[in-house]
Amino acid sequence: MSTLIRNGLVINATGSHAADVLIEGEHIAALVTPGFSVRADEEIDAAGKYVIPGGIDVHTHMEMPFGGTQSADTFETGTVAAAWGGTTTIVDFAVQPKGSSLLSTLDKWHAKADGNCAVDYGFHMIISDVNDQSLKEMESCIAAGVNSFKMFMAYPGVFYATDGEILRAMQKARETGATIMMHAENGIAIDQLVAQALANGQGDPVQHGLTRPPELEGEATSRAIQLAKVTGSPLYIVHLSAAQALDAVTAARDTGQNVFAETCPQYLYLSLEDLARPGFEGAKYVASPPLRPKEHQSSLWRGLRTNDLSVVSTDHCPFCFKDQKQLGVGDFSKIPNGMPGVEHRVDLLHQGVVKGEITRERWVEIASTTPARMFGMYPRKGVIAPGADADVVVYDPGATQTISAETHHMAVDYSAYEGFELAGRVDTVFSRGRKVIADGAYHGSTGHGRFVSRDLNQYLV
Ligand code: URP
Ligand code: ZN
Ligand code: ZN
Ligand code: ZN
Repeated sequence: MSTLIRNGLVINATGSHAADVLIEGEHIAALVTPGFSVRADEEIDAAGKYVIPGGIDVHTHMEMPFGGTQSADTFETGTVAAAWGGTTTIVDFAVQPKGSSLLSTLDKWHAKADGNCAVDYGFHMIISDVNDQSLKEMESCIAAGVNSFKMFMAYPGVFYATDGEILRAMQKARETGATIMMHAENGIAIDQLVAQALANGQGDPVQHGLTRPPELEGEATSRAIQLAKVTGSPLYIVHLSAAQALDAVTAARDTGQNVFAETCPQYLYLSLEDLARPGFEGAKYVASPPLRPKEHQSSLWRGLRTNDLSVVSTDHCPFCFKDQKQLGVGDFSKIPNGMPGVEHRVDLLHQGVVKGEITRERWVEIASTTPARMFGMYPRKGVIAPGADADVVVYDPGATQTISAETHHMAVDYSAYEGFELAGRVDTVFSRGRKVIADGAYHGSTGHGRFVSRDLNQYLV
């Protein structure tokens, strides 16, 4: 099967030019000067539209156990929603429960995802039990295509790792070339603030934000950076939300340290004011780190321009409002942490292009190309070029849309972006040559998505 996407503007991280894109089977076969005649089984007219590499969301939590419940999207519903939004690869987090092994955890996540995904997927591993066996098993994970390991300075008693445990895992990362991904919030101090707020009878959702001040994200980020420096390990800060944390990342990068960071659309577009919505509405916006006061947003956009923030992922971790979020009525610390977003990352970032915060090429870079390189999938993914997987999105910058839970495809009963009016929308999506979204309909199939065995971070020096 071959398809020719004609008359579009091909946008890669390195530049844009008018070209026809020939897809043969699962791969991009050629970029052709417009006007050259090429025979293909099917032609798509992309006049006035962009042709971009499929989005890569390197931070999702499908079917993740958390706080006595489980995130609402399965690998099936979550990857279908991803496809609708122009994301053709996700990297999800396998979560090691305390007391169990990394390899059995990986098996468990394969059992959830294999045969159930609409688009391609890979895994990171969350280490919540640092011991000799886990450290040894990091090598087997790497051999199995999982070479990035998330650790938590937050959530004492659950995922939390001590500085000593982090140091040991970082030493292993240094030895193997793996990347440590860090949830950088000072969980020990935060737990005290949470206990004090609850003791004072302050149980509303906004307290989630007030008890996790940006300084404690800045402090943890700095500490993680110093630990990485001592061990020589690469470090990737996940879901960076605060200017204080960004300052620490910027300073480390200026010295040449292998420190990288991602942010998420919620930190670019939502704020502490959303957490403070009346009644229990704020629970919809409870995620960690919390939404910040608005003034942090301009720092994050600047970080995206300077490359101190090099990736935007979603941290998609949906919990339904009508039942799951209600677990925390009267006690914000019991609200399951996380927000839905996998469907709207590419569209939301496009608003940054429209508003002049980033260029079109930078949009593609932070949504696809850098995630591919950072997590060892390039040039298989992340670029429109001959030989690459035909993960291709035809994007219509002239269309408009309004985000709503009534029309989204995620298995969650609210949208954090309800009523947002966006310029641009996904038109057609190919996942390894298979047309999965076209003419406003889903044409994919469960099980089309394949596990992506990943190489090491390609930015390491
Ligand atoms: O609140 C969040 N971010 N939930 C997902 C788990 C995590 O820490 O990434
Ligand atoms: Zn986290
Ligand atoms: Zn997360
Ligand atoms: Zn291939």
